[in-house]
Amino acid sequence: MNQGTRILGIETSCDETSAAVVEDGRRILSNVVASQFDLHRPFGGVVPEVAARAHAERITAVIDEALALAKCTPRDISAICVANRPGLVGALLVGIAAAKALCIAWDKPLLGMDHIHGHVYAARLAGFSACPHIALIVSGGHTCLYRVTGPLEMSVLGQTADDAAGEAFDKVAKMLNLGFPGGPALAKAAEGVPLEKRGLFRDVVKTMQEADTVKGREAETQESRGANPLDFSFSGLKTAVYYHLRGTTKGRGPLREISPEERAQVAASFQETACDIMASKSIAACRREEIRALAIGGGVACNRRLRELLKERASAANPPLELFFPPPILCADNAAMIAGLAYHRLLRGEHDDWDMEADPTPRRA
Ligand code: KG4
Ligand code: ZN
Repeated sequence: MNQGTRILGIETSCDETSAAVVEDGRRILSNVVASQFDLHRPFGGVVPEVAARAHAERITAVIDEALALAKCTPRDISAICVANRPGLVGALLVGIAAAKALCIAWDKPLLGMDHIHGHVYAARLAGFSACPHIALIVSGGHTCLYRVTGPLEMSVLGQTADDAAGEAFDKVAKMLNLGFPGGPALAKAAEGVPLEKRGLFRDVVKTMQEADTVKGREAETQESRGANPLDFSFSGLKTAVYYHLRGTTKGRGPLREISPEERAQVAASFQETACDIMASKSIAACRREEIRALAIGGGVACNRRLRELLKERASAANPPLELFFPPPILCADNAAMIAGLAYHRLLRGEHDDWDMEADPTPRRA
């Protein structure tokens, strides 16, 4: 049987140790993800040293499992790729060291990949084919809108000025004592709160909703102030939650005791406003770029309310927008998205040298 080009991908940029084998940039033969939630839970957030040590302990077993599930031996692998930017530097270094060692041992080309571009590629890997399209990437470390014109071609339309979307979910979940990881815990706490009770923070953040309905007007006023209307800011919303929970806007100090009902209402109100911001800006980006297709990615893209709001607004647009949601396993951190994307660099005849380094900071695409 004819075998396609199989790439082994490695992903260790934050708190998931992952390895995958993907054929021809499309067919996922395996995608093993070892989560570290239990290790970080006692600290209420990801501890970089703990993450790096856990990656080092798990990486060989995770790679072995990915190869076994894909029924591949090293001979079946055409290249090895690894997310080498952005991320926690100690965590990235473990994946890079593993990838380089295997490339040397098995005589394979090495490819360093951008983790965020991997999140963008997840939609294509899951079968989305619209091109060009807009991508909203919302994760624990990044919040970005892209104009995507090919697997490796994209430009940044907007990004966060302060907290990333997932970071804001995590911090608000912490204020509400909802546990770690905060995003899914907050989404669960918000379940069942009726729409009319989700408005606590509606007026705090001026959303981009008007820009959805009044073509360009809101965008023009923001632009005339020198701000990019497609940039995000979540810190004001986060602070509004903090003041609400303190019961005063003055100084710092302990948070109020709140009832389970109020906790659910605060969670649902925060989620509603945060999702409104993300959905509104994504639709505004489609309108501004005159692109009628939108895909999402990153851990926060698993959020059900965000998906609902996007569906409502995409179908209300005239003509309706084509919308694509990758399955949750491909939205959160995983190596398949890295291995799928790497295929397109390999097709171009590209690879990296042994001196390839970890780069913790995001690049402007
Ligand atoms: O993409 P990802 O797995 O890792 C990074 O690259 O950061 O995203 C993790 C982030 C965390 O902040 C987590 O709380 C958030 O995604 N998240 C969610 C949900 N599931 C994960 N946020 C809101 N709602 C969810 N259902
Ligand atoms: Zn990520």
